[in-house]
Amino acid sequence: MTTLTILVTGGSSASGIAVAGALAAAGHRVLTVGSDDVRIKAAAAAAGQGVTPLVCDLGSLESVRELGSAIEKLGIGGVDGVIHLVGGWRGAKGIKDQSDEDWESLERGAITTLRNVSRVFYSQLEASPHGRLAMVSSTTASAPTAAAASYAAAKAAAEAWTLAVADGFRRDQSANSGNPGTPTEQHSAAVIFVVKALVDDAMRRQHPERRFPGYTDVADLATAVVGLFDQPAATLNGQRILLAK
Ligand SMILES: NC(=O)c1ccc[n+]([C@@H]2O[C@H](COP(=O)([O-])OP(=O)(O)OC[C@H]3O[C@@H](n4cnc5c(N)ncnc54)[C@H](OP(=O)(O)O)[C@@H]3O)[C@@H](O)[C@H]2O)c1
Repeated sequence: MTTLTILVTGGSSASGIAVAGALAAAGHRVLTVGSDDVRIKAAAAAAGQGVTPLVCDLGSLESVRELGSAIEKLGIGGVDGVIHLVGGWRGAKGIKDQSDEDWESLERGAITTLRNVSRVFYSQLEASPHGRLAMVSSTTASAPTAAAASYAAAKAAAEAWTLAVADGFRRDQSANSGNPGTPTEQHSAAVIFVVKALVDDAMRRQHPERRFPGYTDVADLATAVVGLFDQPAATLNGQRILLAK
């Protein structure tokens, strides 16, 4: 199996620990990124061997560029995968009380961080024989509720951005890309995973009375992420993969 370098952006939560751990267990070199030094180090340690913690405010393009330079200096070659997990959640009662503060937070968490990592790492993902960009969206993006209006709009924008990255890969890797010597086989893919909500073992322990209907276990998300590197890019590129049960 080829050892790939995979960046987990927003890796401090239970989903980040599960995804980083599964990728490392599959033999990949994993760099997991969070905004807080203590939290991301704890997450990397929980994910297990082969996971390196890095600190970066992914909401700042300058900081993400610095992250790119720091990774280059590690001398491990380009990044093959970016699994983007920063999201955030804000809700309200309905349309009228959707606040600007909530929108700014969601725009930064769900959209700006994704725009930053994909702009900075696009060339490396496009150059990799197994380039993958994945983000996790919500079922509310395509079936919005009034209470989750801002959240749904932010997630829909993040989905549109991801599909645009998929179009970039398709164009750059087509026979008509205008780049002499460009291989015609698609080798990079951008995909959207869709969940209703995530659940992990700690949540189940804290709420033994709850059944979490329709929730996706972070372990199942992690398995789906690992599987991205085993499937053909042409099949995956631009797909919206439903993981909600
Ligand atoms: N949880 C759910 O039920 C659910 C439902 C639908 C969709 N999703 C989506 O699934 C994905 C994963 O969900 P999640 O709940 O695990 O994610 P999350 O808690 O929203 O974000 C993951 C991690 O990103 C880090 N982060 C936040 N802002 C950052 C920044 N500016 N720079 C660097 N790191 C930053 C946070 O850690 P630090 O603060 O330590 O940096 C956080 O633990 C998200 O995209 C989310 O929208 C989740």
